[in-house]
Amino acid sequence: MSAVADTLAPPAGARADWTIDQAWDRYGDAEHRVWTTLYERQRALLPGRACDAFLRGLDSLDLHRGGVPDFARINPELSRLTGWSVVAVPGLVPDAVFFDHLANRRFPSGQFIRDGGELDYLREPDIFHDVFGHVPMLTDPVFADYMQAYGQGGLRAVGLDRLHNLARLYWYTVEFGLLQTPAGLRIYGAGIVSSRAESVFALDDPSPNRLAFDLERVMRTPYRIDDFQQTYFVIPSLDALLDATLSDFGPLYDRLRVAADIPIEAVQPGEPAFTRGTQAYARGRAAAVQ
Ligand code: PHE
Ligand code: FE
Repeated sequence: MSAVADTLAPPAGARADWTIDQAWDRYGDAEHRVWTTLYERQRALLPGRACDAFLRGLDSLDLHRGGVPDFARINPELSRLTGWSVVAVPGLVPDAVFFDHLANRRFPSGQFIRDGGELDYLREPDIFHDVFGHVPMLTDPVFADYMQAYGQGGLRAVGLDRLHNLARLYWYTVEFGLLQTPAGLRIYGAGIVSSRAESVFALDDPSPNRLAFDLERVMRTPYRIDDFQQTYFVIPSLDALLDATLSDFGPLYDRLRVAADIPIEAVQPGEPAFTRGTQAYARGRAAAVQ
């Protein structure tokens, strides 16, 4: 789940904080089957690809049982582990609403699930992306703190007119982050672990760059919403990510006000890289649409 800010009034039927009842009883058999299909596909693919914290979280919440997860069932365990809970929303919510939920350890999740005929196509984040992708990492105490701090930081970035910079941090960590481990690179980003194709591409394809995470560098890097990423950033540990973001972003935002963006595919001179991508995939796609 991410956010769009055009209107602040919740849609009819939603509460002032944009939440709705999940209405779990109303999911039909076909919807439960879509969940189970997607779940089993990713669960088979992710060992050796997703990081341990993600796989542990997935199992501790028992997200396989009974199709689409009932928030009333998973919230007691999630809240026991880290104080987080999942709340249902109708779709994308305004930025300030999204950040306020995170700052209070509530993760807003889409209520609907994608159509069984289009398992890999998503117009907006659905409950599979939001719950399978995001919620397991929220069982990790360090990542749980990071997400709450992000919510607090988001409210502040709006006031300082730096939200587009902070949004890149979310994108390149929470959605598309990679983690360095002794066994090799692992995925922790929700946008990757919830996508069959990107779970492979992000780790194995020679096309994208895989660069060492650097806070200011990340905030200067635009991202793609329509295709696989051209660059991924690798954190050395979840603790290091939290440490890097606990500092006051005020001085950083002042620098970013005058700093140029870095082209999406660029590796800078002397920049530490796990992989210098060929960018062959991105070039092929660009040529195909011309
Ligand atoms: N430390 C950041 C600030 O001063 C807040 C933040 C924390 C942002 C963690 C993102 C992640 O604004
Ligand atoms: Fe998301």
